[in-house]
Amino acid sequence: MRLLTAGESHGPALLAVVEGVPAGIPLDAAFIDAQLARRQRGAGRGARQKIERDRVEILSGVRGGETLGSPVGLRVANRDWENWKARMAAGPIEPGREVTLPRPGHADLAGALKYDRQDCRDVLERASARETAARVAAGAVARRLLEELGVALASCVLAVGAVEAEREPTFEEALALDPEMPLPGDGARARALEAVEAARRGGETLGGAVLVVARGVAAGVGSHVQWDRRLDARLGAHLLSIPSAKGVCFGDVARSHRLPGSAAQDAIRHEAGRGYVRPTNHAGGLEGGVANGEELRATVLFKPVSTLARPLPTVDMRTHEPAPAHIERSDVCAVVPAAVVAEAVVALGLAEAYLEKFGGDSLRETRRNLEAYRARLAER
Ligand SMILES: Cc1cc2nc3c(=O)[nH]c(=O)nc-3n(C[C@H](O)[C@H](O)[C@H](O)COP(=O)(O)O)c2cc1C
Repeated sequence: MRLLTAGESHGPALLAVVEGVPAGIPLDAAFIDAQLARRQRGAGRGARQKIERDRVEILSGVRGGETLGSPVGLRVANRDWENWKARMAAGPIEPGREVTLPRPGHADLAGALKYDRQDCRDVLERASARETAARVAAGAVARRLLEELGVALASCVLAVGAVEAEREPTFEEALALDPEMPLPGDGARARALEAVEAARRGGETLGGAVLVVARGVAAGVGSHVQWDRRLDARLGAHLLSIPSAKGVCFGDVARSHRLPGSAAQDAIRHEAGRGYVRPTNHAGGLEGGVANGEELRATVLFKPVSTLARPLPTVDMRTHEPAPAHIERSDVCAVVPAAVVAEAVVALGLAEAYLEKFGGDSLRETRRNLEAYRARLAER
């Protein structure tokens, strides 16, 4: 399975093409829209989300409520396009209003130099995390496939700025958290909401950390035999491709790297009916690049949003004179939607790895292959 996305933040729409999706997966626009709505919620979002009401248009690959095996084409319209037509048209555009004050921490300067652009808008429109709406839409297709194969996903926020959750939630606890600020623990949640509002008042921004949990991942997905088939490498690449994601940890290594080895590994037991199990899950469900059948747990660290209402110093690209950086309408904290995006890209990475292991042009075939494999494991 592979994915391409296209679209500028204030262009007409975002597009996703997902190729390699097996036929026969029940899929409708409402399922994808529910995931898109989750991405739009959350404390710290900027004014843009008041304009957008993301809805998917399924352009191809689905008929009568089922996937066909052909590329699934998805379109998410940008409502804001109406306000930007004069500046973002493919044809002649309104002169003036070029962005020449690149924001520290954003792609503005690097992209303008690399692609030989004089206006940072030519870069920032695509670097914008608005692109993640296309990935959440595509991720919903992957999620639907995984649901059919017995895999469920959840996520939460573990930190907002310096405010940290007291502990990681269970899968069920993560599902029940407040979507506005899904950070476990009432006290910590209230402090996180306050921190976001204080940042907004002070012209500041915040980063944080999120957790993604996948339950029901079959032991044996991924492989130790080649670097790019390691499931942690594949999921890590997906997660680090999220704008502003700067670190990924599996299991509890952010704490357990300080422990002696005997306290950081998961002992192995065999239980009749369940097979090989672990009483602990330090590894976060992955050993040797292969899923071990325990819950898959990935933590992702996000740097603070780089567009500041009180901008940092930069340089005007026309004159090289110092000036405050460009201010683009922006989120104060993107960690809540980032958790939803992280879930979506984990779904994409897991679906790729599932299809690599179990193959199948139709859901029936994929499922039969999975069941045959599980039956073989049950004999061990
Ligand atoms: C869901 C989400 C929303 C974001 N919203 C903003 C935003 O409103 N303003 C901003 O400057 N950066 C925002 N970012 C981060 C930037 O897109 C990102 O920092 C930028 O593209 C540069 O890439 P890098 O931080 O990965 O180097 C957001 C990130 C995510 C995941």
